[in-house]
Formats: sequence, C-alpha cells, structure tokens
Amino acid sequence: MSLILEGFMGSGKSAVGKELAKRLGLSFIDTDALIEAKQDCRIADIFEESGEEAFRQMETAVLQGLLLTDDEAVISLGGGTPVRDANQSIIKALGRVIYLWADASTLIRRLESGTEERPMLKGGDLAHRVKKLLGEREKRYMELADIVIDIQDESIEEICCRIMEEV
Ligand code: S3P
Repeated sequence: MSLILEGFMGSGKSAVGKELAKRLGLSFIDTDALIEAKQDCRIADIFEESGEEAFRQMETAVLQGLLLTDDEAVISLGGGTPVRDANQSIIKALGRVIYLWADASTLIRRLESGTEERPMLKGGDLAHRVKKLLGEREKRYMELADIVIDIQDESIEEICCRIMEEV
C-alpha cells in the first residue's frame, strides 16, 4: 500500500516525501513532476497556456495512471489535487493518506519567498489568497486524511519519524 502526502502549497510534501521514501526503501512519485514530464512543460506555463481546468484534468489523468500500477510508493500530490471530486476516490484507492497540516500564518511565512512557480498564488495579496484557498480546502484535506501530522516547527527528519510511527 502506498503512502500519499496531501497538504497545502508550502507544507513540504515533496521534501518530506523524498526523505520518507528513502527511509522506507520505496520509490518517490511527485504528481506535479509527472505532469511536467508528460507535458514537457512547467506547471506555471501549463496554467498560462491552457488554464487551470486543463491542468486539473491532467492531475486526474495522472492519478488514474497511478491506479494501474501495483508498485508501492510514497506519492506527493499537488496542493489542489484533493479538491476535485473525481480525484477523491482515486486517492483513497491509492493508499493511506497523510495530511501535512500547518496553519495559515505558517504557510504564508513559508510561501513568501516563492510564488513565482505557483500560479494559484500569483497576483494580489499572498496572505489573503492563502487564507481563502485554505478555507476552501481544509475540510477536503481532513475528510481524505487517514493521518494528520502537524508539521509546524518540525524538521523533515522529525516529520518522517512521526509518519513512520503512525503507519
Ligand atoms: C497547486 C499546487 C501546486 C501545483 C499547482 C496547483 C494548488 O503543487 O500542483 O501549482 O492548486 O494548490 P504544490 O502544492 O506542490 O506547490
């Protein structure tokens, strides 16, 4: 059974996922990276050229593809992947879902340095956008989660240890 990492942008899904996969001897899959490889295009450019809806369809297609493989892996999702209804049952079927939780102010602090590569945060006031999106998404993250890990003030190593204790 795979381990699926969900959480808002800036919660550390990719960094934690890589380290966790290494510790567990599993492969690491980043769904954003899969989309970029398949499209041969950066996510920011996909948003710009084709729009968010096209990107969301690509996310669902990637998840469906993962369902066809039996390999156990640590899978890091994009921050918005759990929101789409069609993705929820697929994510559940893929494995145990771990929500990397942090509050809005922690996420805002972590996101301050890099909104360039994150089209969902472009334009307007960062704090306002994070609070609004998080407000829309948090219930979804919680509903899907088998395990919730508070990542605030924790190092990647500590987060991995906590996850490994829980699973
Ligand atoms: C998105 C999060 C991004 C990426 C895309 C959309 C979102 O992934 O999938 O820019 O809607 O929250 P990260 O959470 O890895 O930044």
